[in-house]
Amino acid sequence: MLQTIQEASIQDLRKVTNIDELLNKTQNFLRIVPDNMDYLSEALERKGSQWNDFINGLLVNLPVYNNTLKTIHLDKEKHLLSLGIPKRFLSAKIEDFPQSITDACEDFFSQRKEGLLIYGNAGVGKTHLAISLIIQRYLTKMPIIQFDFGNYRIMRPQQAEFHSLTDIFLEIRNSFNKSEKSEKKIIDKYSENEGRFFLVFDDLGVEKPSDWIIQTLYMIIDRRYRNMHKTIITSNLNLDEISAQLSDRIASRLAGMCKIINLRGKDRRL
Ligand SMILES: Nc1ncnc2c1ncn2[C@@H]1O[C@H](COP(=O)(O)OP(=O)(O)O)[C@@H](O)[C@H]1O
Ligand SMILES: [Mg+2]
Repeated sequence: MLQTIQEASIQDLRKVTNIDELLNKTQNFLRIVPDNMDYLSEALERKGSQWNDFINGLLVNLPVYNNTLKTIHLDKEKHLLSLGIPKRFLSAKIEDFPQSITDACEDFFSQRKEGLLIYGNAGVGKTHLAISLIIQRYLTKMPIIQFDFGNYRIMRPQQAEFHSLTDIFLEIRNSFNKSEKSEKKIIDKYSENEGRFFLVFDDLGVEKPSDWIIQTLYMIIDRRYRNMHKTIITSNLNLDEISAQLSDRIASRLAGMCKIINLRGKDRRL
């Protein structure tokens, strides 16, 4: 049963003194995973000044099986933005696409392929599709709260992130005059998943392919390929064009790791 959080229940929660009571009062709208129980008990013992923060944090931040509450909506949006999703795409849904496309994406979720290469002309919905997959993941694995020595923080259980390749190259270029270490750090960050379920790299091939661009891309893609890190790439280039413009080394790794999806149709921006 879905249940709306009323102000009254917030007051109720403030009076909770032990974990059974908390669970009892929150079971209709909080999802608390068993792993968190120890942390939760500890937080309850500390109560005091942290208690109100804790309760407010729960109500504002925890997944609620009810989307009528405005604060929760805002929070969902905040989470999605923090995954790198640009505002324009916040409402992208996998249902926006025909069955043939969603079936093809299944290979990615069923682990048959560790990557997806979504290609097609401008405006056909490549970015929209990639983001709908991040949002789908978000909705099936909503953030949970975890306690760390009495402080709570939001955990995003292996959620996915969106990155535009243009921004990644800019970030690396900006690190140049700092130190070699920071360049390596940034490349490492995009070569690994580090607790994220998959990364989206948007707009492969938009950059003028200098030797530096090709070498940097190769490093990232080759490491992801070798370690089978889940990756979604969008591009206006097909594999042959990627091979011609960005090197056959990059194209062959993408061919090895990705299910290829060709999006067709008219330019939706026009
Ligand atoms: N299947 C769809 N349903 C509804 N809107 C869509 C769909 N595909 C794309 N759009 C919208 O059309 C615009 C262009 O799509 P986008 O994904 O940016 O195209 P591309 O990345 O292929 O250039 C965006 O505003 C996007 O939200
Ligand atoms: Mg796009």
